[in-house]
Amino acid sequence: MRRQPSTVYVLHENPDWYPPFAAAFDAEGVPHEPWLLGDGTLDLNAVPPPGVFWSRMSASAHTRGHVHAKDHTRAVLAWLEASGARVVNGRRVLELEVSKIDQLTALEAAGFDVPYTLAVVGSGDLLAAARKLPAPFVSKHNQGGKGLGVKRFDSVEEYAEYLESPGYQPPVDGITLLQEYVRPAEPFITRVELVGGELVYAITADVGRGGFELCPADACAVDDDPPLFALRKDFDHPVIGRYLDFAAAHGIEIAGFEFIESADGRLVTYDVNTNTNYNPDVEATAPRSGPRMIAQFLGRLLEQ
Ligand SMILES: Nc1ncnc2c1ncn2[C@@H]1O[C@H](COP(=O)(O)OP(=O)(O)OP(=O)(O)O)[C@@H](O)[C@H]1O
Ligand SMILES: [Mg+2]
Repeated sequence: MRRQPSTVYVLHENPDWYPPFAAAFDAEGVPHEPWLLGDGTLDLNAVPPPGVFWSRMSASAHTRGHVHAKDHTRAVLAWLEASGARVVNGRRVLELEVSKIDQLTALEAAGFDVPYTLAVVGSGDLLAAARKLPAPFVSKHNQGGKGLGVKRFDSVEEYAEYLESPGYQPPVDGITLLQEYVRPAEPFITRVELVGGELVYAITADVGRGGFELCPADACAVDDDPPLFALRKDFDHPVIGRYLDFAAAHGIEIAGFEFIESADGRLVTYDVNTNTNYNPDVEATAPRSGPRMIAQFLGRLLEQ
């Protein structure tokens, strides 16, 4: 008997980020159910319920105390994919989400310009590796999100001080990326949002105020005037097509790609986000809505 898909299940770990998606599903008349991951039992012999399964697992889940959420998601996705269920942003995408090494190597193999990067495992080699980079340089966690642990250093001495300071947080997977600082021509980065093989919009994030923690969600909002995030109007650039091709090649169905247009004339892609939180101010002015496009896309999948 053919099963009829009926519900969009949203695999995630942070209920604070769910309301904009719930509102979009409701507005589009798409049945949806959040599936919180982090603990609980998975019956490996069970048959998944009919529906479409969208993984929004976040690389920063551990920073909210959800230390098992990523492995839980791996398990659930393995079970779903083995059962032949329709998964959006499945196992491969989760591995990209939780490893900037995975993102950067895949981007570079596809011909994108990426920042020169050294991946340092453990802490013993950090200073020796930092000496191999010209200053300023950036350190970040391989398994990041929210810009946590992303810092710019103007010298190895400054980095050495930071490593000894109480503010230093070691990366959860033991891997630190030391990266070329890409100096922007103008003080902003751009994020290109894609859903289901289509462009949603491009946004800019102001980096002129020094911060590297650029979570666009309402849940991370700070009072900033002018706002940190803005629609990048009329952005029509060949890189959009290249991101769409890259996404298709890797089975990435919902993602935001971040790049910097550098002072030396490069377009450097440095981050692939597969669990974007869409900024409410941008959403209010944009011609299209990220959550609404997701609800429409997943709604169409339900009907197939
Ligand atoms: N190599 C770099 N050169 C210059 N600026 C950088 C570099 N890497 C990161 N940044 C700045 O730091 C911000 C956060 O870095 P990144 O996106 O790699 O971290 P993240 O943890 O994935 O953050 P998010 O989840 O907000 O995307 C970037 O948006 C950018 O402004
Ligand atoms: Mg980023």
